[in-house]
Amino acid sequence: MNDEVFEKYRTAGALASRILREGAQGIRVGESYLGLVESIEARVRDEGAALAFPLNLSLNEDAAHDTASYDDERVFSNGDVAKLDLGVQIDGYIADTATTIDLGNNSLLLDASSGALEAAIREVKPGATAGALGAAVQKEIEGRGYRPIANLTGHGLDRYVLHRSPTIPNIGIKGGGVLEEGMVFAIEPFATTGCGHVKEKTRMEIYSQLSARPVRAPAGRIILDKIRDRNGLPFSHRWLGDRKLDLALPALIRSGNLHVYPVLSDVAGSLVSQHEHTVIVTGDGCIVTTR
Ligand code: CO
Repeated sequence: MNDEVFEKYRTAGALASRILREGAQGIRVGESYLGLVESIEARVRDEGAALAFPLNLSLNEDAAHDTASYDDERVFSNGDVAKLDLGVQIDGYIADTATTIDLGNNSLLLDASSGALEAAIREVKPGATAGALGAAVQKEIEGRGYRPIANLTGHGLDRYVLHRSPTIPNIGIKGGGVLEEGMVFAIEPFATTGCGHVKEKTRMEIYSQLSARPVRAPAGRIILDKIRDRNGLPFSHRWLGDRKLDLALPALIRSGNLHVYPVLSDVAGSLVSQHEHTVIVTGDGCIVTTR
């Protein structure tokens, strides 16, 4: 990795870290999801950076992929466990970081995912396997009486690429990718009081472009036009700015132009916490860009 690329990763990471920390302080009982999400996303743009994906705000049993919709009327309630997952990119170089805010008495659950993240980071060095990181996550979370979510993983990052090798499991597996100096990836343990396995809900807020196949419907063409500058990175239908365009989304999915990320949830009534950092592997360990 050359110095210029390294600096972009570091700058994106520092910005994501600061904005996530400040943004998390805005979560209070009675505060609206939409107001919070829009203010945090605006802060990223005000700093001259771009979002790598819409700010994910997922509550309680929802683990990932929810965000505020156009006229979201939801507000934070007593007892909520809120996950904020922020992606900032500078010239395509991504920092991916998440934290959990507890509006109830769930500090032990939060400690499980944050402790697991730190345990995994301690394992990172050239030659270590992704499986060893997963084992550290699982041991830490189960040792505290919770379950890791087995079918959510950390992921390698590249320029304008949000998911590539290595995959970083949240459970111990044999082997897995071997870490090398210069690799960039996100580690994101999820701890749950539920079954440790997420399923797709019908709620869909986040999409990404897979291809630019020609479409006939004018609304479909307007959408493809609006999302061109995403370079394939995810977007929210809230960003389209015109809810009439939503009607064209299903056809774009059927034609293979768009991919959709439904909300992913553990069992109803469970609580999920998440912590995430982006790391760059160095000669003898790693640099955490999102501290
Ligand atoms: Co991530």
